[in-house]
Amino acid sequence: MALVTSTEMFKKAYHGGYAVGAFNVNNMEIVQAITEACREEKAPVILQVSKGARAYANHTYLVKLVEAAVIECPEIPIVLHLDHGDSFETCKSCIDGGFTSVMIDASSKPFDENIAITRKVVEYAHDHGVVVEAELGALAGVEDEVSVEADKAHYTRPEEVEEFVTRTGCDSLAIAIGTSHGAYKFKPGTKPQLRFDILEEVSRRLPEFPIVLHGSSSVPQEYVKMVNEFGGAMPGAIGVPEEQLRHAASLSVCKINIDSDLRLAMTGTIRKFFAEHPDKFDPREYLKPARANIKELVRHKLVDVLGCAGKA
Ligand code: G3H
Ligand code: 13P
Ligand code: ZN
Repeated sequence: MALVTSTEMFKKAYHGGYAVGAFNVNNMEIVQAITEACREEKAPVILQVSKGARAYANHTYLVKLVEAAVIECPEIPIVLHLDHGDSFETCKSCIDGGFTSVMIDASSKPFDENIAITRKVVEYAHDHGVVVEAELGALAGVEDEVSVEADKAHYTRPEEVEEFVTRTGCDSLAIAIGTSHGAYKFKPGTKPQLRFDILEEVSRRLPEFPIVLHGSSSVPQEYVKMVNEFGGAMPGAIGVPEEQLRHAASLSVCKINIDSDLRLAMTGTIRKFFAEHPDKFDPREYLKPARANIKELVRHKLVDVLGCAGKA
């Protein structure tokens, strides 16, 4: 199967009560770990690339790695998506460069400006057979070197979504209901609670429309412990409870973004490897267990959190 857009995926996910996993990719091992888990679990998948990933690994290398995954995993549909596109030019460069989906994130701009830039991306993308995710509301946390302080974050206002979607023509909408980017999402001791009332009101106003959740890592304490035990210092790293993500996936949320969890699995595993094998220096030896642990983590997300195993 060639790369696909998310249109059919989201239709099936919406009606099937599950969400498709959107995992960030930065190198070969991460692409392999994610797509092997998806192939074995027969799950559709969205591989997403941030501006930072393009700066780190180079656009062409990332596209070719994803194309290799498409060849290796012909049974599953794979979307290549731009995560947090910051301008029309970035989106255009990905549309021209082989992506099947882009996000234009103008959520920090005033409402009308967000609409204007999103509309411009949608027109260009749709002319080229590419779909567009847009965002309304502001998540807390760090994304692409931009840090949004908790007090500047705000939930999506449901009364704005119909006008936004109608005027922009976007294909899916990322909303802010209490998720947050990075590994430090909530203050230790507080009880994370997503605003399902906002999600339900948004969905009531946008029937059958696919909703996206960013900042949805659960920050597995097993890996936080591993990082801390083997020389790291990540005190108070807390994520979104998996049951709440499962619930969101059963509603109108069709795409759930997970990145930090995979980073933690990789870093924890490599730290442990070096602590236990101080004499080793072959990258293949420490990247292999890291890749294996990311794969198992992705499998767990597909089966127990997203509900998309067997849906390819
Ligand atoms: O939301 C952002 C993703 O986790 C990508 O992070 O900008 O560090 O590549 P990055
Ligand atoms: P996390 O930092 O929670 O993994 O969020 C990833 C994300 O939203 C990518 O766009
Ligand atoms: Zn994000």
